[in-house]
Amino acid sequence: MSQPTLNPNLRERVRRSIQRDPFPDDSRGRARQVLNDLILHLHATKVPVRALKISYSFGLGLLAILFFLVLIVTGVLLLFVYTPTPEDAYASIRILETEIWMGQLVRNLHHWSGNALLIVAALHMLRVFYTAAFHPPREFNWLLGLGLLVLVALSNFTGYLLPWDQLAFWATTIVTGMIGYIPAIGEGLKQWLLGGPEVGGATLRTFFAFHIVVFPLFMAIIVSYHIWRVRKDSFSLPRDLDEPPVDRRQIERVTTIPHLVNLELGFGLLTLALLIAWATWVNAPLEPAANPSHPPNPAKAAWYFMGFQELLLHFHPLIVTLVIPGFTAAALIALPYMDRNPATEPDVEGIWFRSRHGRRLTAINTVLGIVITTAWVILDEKWLDLPELLDFLPVLISDGVIPFGAILLFLIGYHWLLGRRGATISERNLALFTLLCAAFLTLTAIGIFCRGENMALGWPW
Ligand code: HEM
Repeated sequence: MSQPTLNPNLRERVRRSIQRDPFPDDSRGRARQVLNDLILHLHATKVPVRALKISYSFGLGLLAILFFLVLIVTGVLLLFVYTPTPEDAYASIRILETEIWMGQLVRNLHHWSGNALLIVAALHMLRVFYTAAFHPPREFNWLLGLGLLVLVALSNFTGYLLPWDQLAFWATTIVTGMIGYIPAIGEGLKQWLLGGPEVGGATLRTFFAFHIVVFPLFMAIIVSYHIWRVRKDSFSLPRDLDEPPVDRRQIERVTTIPHLVNLELGFGLLTLALLIAWATWVNAPLEPAANPSHPPNPAKAAWYFMGFQELLLHFHPLIVTLVIPGFTAAALIALPYMDRNPATEPDVEGIWFRSRHGRRLTAINTVLGIVITTAWVILDEKWLDLPELLDFLPVLISDGVIPFGAILLFLIGYHWLLGRRGATISERNLALFTLLCAAFLTLTAIGIFCRGENMALGWPW
């Protein structure tokens, strides 16, 4: 008996309503066409051969997208079990880990992808900086990237509280405590964030809403715009030292499919395999349930905020919570607009570390940043007590304005001196950026590894 079939004309009409181009007859051909169309919405049809050089971009932007997607998929799965109340949050994580099939793996994947996204986004920013890829016409994409980095940090921060264990509770207490130091608005902002005077049920609800809706939504919008702009502004191209700027009309190009797509697929799958292997063997941390009356000793912020917690041990809180972030944000926002004088300085886009001189400056300032910061932390911890030495001055002056002003003067003087010795603006900025990055990473490492009970300084072992 013959089966009733859909009217062939009607089937064709349905198909055309979905895909208007002539459509292959076989199902594999159709699938390939849909996939190709999707890829060519994201990429141009052809790419310069130079853009395929993996030692230029290291695929870090792609990796960031990959981790973001893993976070969304695993985050949705976690939502089926997690309960955002102080009474049930910890228990729901325990149930997830012990009673739900693959629950521990899903939690691990989510936890490690969040950390990896932060590291990869920061490395991607360093790559963009050190190859001068943020020079015109990509100034605005640099700003979008800065926004993304902040959103990634905030997403990690709000997610940290959700398991409601000791680590989560006290790390959040420390960081929100820092916000309270901001003059005039700090206390109000802190209370608003916490939903009360201290971390509690309202805080968990607020953080949960930000973590699962507000930040991912903003990130999805900005990431889409960021990638669209990479296409519109054109991808920067790698160049060797002393090589003249690339003439884009003359360069060799290949088709995106399969050349770029194969590379992305291979790189993406390899990373995914490594992530799954890591998440299979290394569990996300979970301490005993939060106990608001028993802080651990030492009570530390999450690792990515340890640089700020370390700074709090040396400066007045106002400097750490407002002045340093304010100066850093202003400098990073202004950077792409002030990094090169096109009338007098060479185009260095695509050249790692700008020039031979830039390479030397990067190496020297990395070492300088590590050595000066370590020496200063030890000096300030063991011998130098500015508030006591200058006890006739308010602490804001003796422990804030004076040391910060001294550092600022040193940086301005150093920038000027490098200029006098023939460095271009871009090379001078590179030197300062490297020095400050090395200093911040050193502070972070000291905070994580060298602070023990009562935050006393000691050896990491
Ligand atoms: C969630 C975070 C981020 C995602 C998903 C992302 C994604 C991407 C992707 C896919 C590309 C093209 C490929 C590549 O360069 O690897 C790219 C390029 C770029 N990104 Fe990002 N990015 C992020 C964060 C940032 C940050 C923090 C900055 C800088 C502050 C930044 C600035 C740029 C710039 C200027 C380009 C153009 C680079 C060039 O043409 O060489 N991005 N981004």
